[in-house]
Amino acid sequence: MNLVILGAQWGDEGKGKVVALLSENYEVVVRYQGGSNAGHTVVINGEKFILHLLPTGILHPHTVGIIAQGMVVDLELLVKEIKEIESKGLRVRDRLFISDRAHLVLPYHKILDSLLERKGKIGTTLRGIGPAYMLKYARKGIRVCDLWDKDRFYSLVKDNLEFVEELCKKVYCENFELKIEEVVDRSLENFEEVKDCVIDTSQYLLEKREGILFEGAQGTLLDVDIGTYPYVTSSNSSALGLSAGTGLPPKFFSKAKFYGVSKAYTTRVGEGPFPTELKDSTGELLRERGGEYGSTTGRPRRCGWLDLVALKHAVRLNGLDGIILTKLDVLDAFEEIKVCVAYQLEDRIIENFPASLTLLEKVKPVYKSFEGWKESTYGAVDRREIPKKAWDYINFIQEYVGVPVVMLSTSPEKDKYLWLEEESYEGANIG
Ligand code: IMP
Repeated sequence: MNLVILGAQWGDEGKGKVVALLSENYEVVVRYQGGSNAGHTVVINGEKFILHLLPTGILHPHTVGIIAQGMVVDLELLVKEIKEIESKGLRVRDRLFISDRAHLVLPYHKILDSLLERKGKIGTTLRGIGPAYMLKYARKGIRVCDLWDKDRFYSLVKDNLEFVEELCKKVYCENFELKIEEVVDRSLENFEEVKDCVIDTSQYLLEKREGILFEGAQGTLLDVDIGTYPYVTSSNSSALGLSAGTGLPPKFFSKAKFYGVSKAYTTRVGEGPFPTELKDSTGELLRERGGEYGSTTGRPRRCGWLDLVALKHAVRLNGLDGIILTKLDVLDAFEEIKVCVAYQLEDRIIENFPASLTLLEKVKPVYKSFEGWKESTYGAVDRREIPKKAWDYINFIQEYVGVPVVMLSTSPEKDKYLWLEEESYEGANIG
């Protein structure tokens, strides 16, 4: 059966470890949206890897990794990432396929990203992601396949540079200095390193049919259509992005399992509404215990209690079959643990995640409180190592969102997890 692993919050849920673990049983691992804005941290045999563009599953020597058409690819970074892993003795290029339809991220996308941030702060990763998708949808994007034809590539870059230069000068009053030869030559050099990996990946996947794990980046609440728009990334980082991002028909996924990864609390980086954010010492404690600093930018993450209204939104719109709960151990030290079960706006109770930013910015969380278990769950691999009070917390989550918690991840180490029986869950929905 094919498996889809998605972020069920604002990203950074711990998908890297989960995918690294589960992909052991799959032949092919696919990334299908976003780009180097992602940062998947995986610890294998005590060695830490941070992957930005490669699918995490590629760290298993037997898996084929796919960079599918919905991604925006910074070849400079991709080549660097590949070489870094290959320097550790793990050959990547004979197991990697890159879609010829994927769009490129070029240096001027990053310049534009910084300028756009100056006018209206989203708190992006400054990796050029928004501008790359912006030019893609403006039908000015440049795709991997364009690199096969040097003249065509040159003229596309020339057009882009003229467009971006005008934008920079007229809108931002900024001089723009980027030499076309530098952009073109560097891109062609990088292409030379990976050109044997370039194929029509949707054809490959259609023929493969089974044994595929689809690895979402970012998270549902950062999805451009169902997230906290405009404080989102520029791709469909929920299940909505699967078909367009892979080039596979929606039917292809009808028998797949969909699991969403969620922390036992909530974090987000960048700007935007976050109803359960804690700007006090409790939030600080979550950040310190959880090591909540961005793996791509190093920024401290904003922290707060688990928001079940938001999580249920993710469960419904992704059609999740189960939740993979991570970082429960971060809550081990707390006397009291809260979860948000609704939002309040004056005398109105809101139970569905609202589209309107005006509402999201004003709502107050309605909390249910749990007594802390005050025992270590760190590294637990057996149900008996999880205290009763922690089970009460987990059971409440699954009952509220209406799907089971299928797995607990209990430390960054790959072998520290508990697989919970899906069948034993009876499925009450008290939300
Ligand atoms: P961009 O994707 O760099 O354009 O950033 C848009 C928003 O998505 C910002 O709030 C980023 O902090 C956030 N974001 C992008 N990628 C990730 C990620 O991998 N984890 C968490 N947040 C992310």
